[in-house]
Amino acid sequence: MTGPTPLAGTAAIVTGASAGLGEIMARGLAGAGCAVLIAARRVDRLRAVADAITEEGGRVVAHPADLRDPGHARDLVDAAVAEFGRLDGVVLNAATATVAPAEAEDPAAFADVMAVNVSAQAALAGAAARVMIDAGRGGWMVLMSSILGRKAATGPGVAAYVASKIAVEGLTRELARQWAPHGIRVNALAPGYFPTEMNAPMTADPGRREALLARTPMGRSGEPADLTGPLLFLASDASRFVTGHTLPVDGGMSCW
Ligand SMILES: NC(=O)c1ccc[n+]([C@@H]2O[C@H](COP(=O)([O-])OP(=O)(O)OC[C@H]3O[C@@H](n4cnc5c(N)ncnc54)[C@H](OP(=O)(O)O)[C@@H]3O)[C@@H](O)[C@H]2O)c1
Repeated sequence: MTGPTPLAGTAAIVTGASAGLGEIMARGLAGAGCAVLIAARRVDRLRAVADAITEEGGRVVAHPADLRDPGHARDLVDAAVAEFGRLDGVVLNAATATVAPAEAEDPAAFADVMAVNVSAQAALAGAAARVMIDAGRGGWMVLMSSILGRKAATGPGVAAYVASKIAVEGLTRELARQWAPHGIRVNALAPGYFPTEMNAPMTADPGRREALLARTPMGRSGEPADLTGPLLFLASDASRFVTGHTLPVDGGMSCW
């Protein structure tokens, strides 16, 4: 990475950018000079994030979308190219989870988690790759795994989520293999514990939060800058010979 804006002149899509880690990553990319199309379902939250990025001097367009909509992948890619004239990167971040003992899990709810966390990621990656291959400039993709893509959970049952995140890591390797000849690098981040809406119900119990921190050798939860650095590494030429890799960003949680 060179200079304060290593991604100047490039453009990317960030899904799940109305909250949590998606918002952090959209702001991080915009701060590095990358124009961002941000997507999620909640229009008001998406617009608030877009306003914040604009105030910080970034270039952004908000595009409401539900990843369950089969047309979302094509729509997002078309909108990014129409707005910015190019597409260099995609952060495949949006995800959902169910919390249930596996023996009581509703199969339809399990399938919905796989549809949002895996099938929709593959669809958007494919739509983005078609544009990148045609443009001939290569590109980058960052998928979102989790510590739970590598280790069993320690709290309530999250079987669908765990299965989906392991699938994301396999998808990362296979997409990387297929698109390497086109100069498209595909990697994933595997966060540990970052306090967000997704895990708020589970960590409302202080004992549960303490247990998560006890599993983290660095002894604290993740902060925005902890994620932005690894993302910018994977999105920039600093990682130009890195593809098919999942990078834990977990304060050492995966050491155990
Ligand atoms: N937080 C952590 O500690 C942690 C740890 C490991 C991995 N991760 C991973 O990091 C990513 C972000 O997690 P987070 O903690 O930031 O979660 P979050 O706060 O719950 O945010 C999830 C985002 O995904 C969007 N989303 C969910 N379903 C969607 C759908 N059907 N269509 C479009 N957008 C949808 C949500 O926006 P709308 O509701 O507005 O649609 C929201 O912006 C996920 O892939 C998660 O698995 C997080």
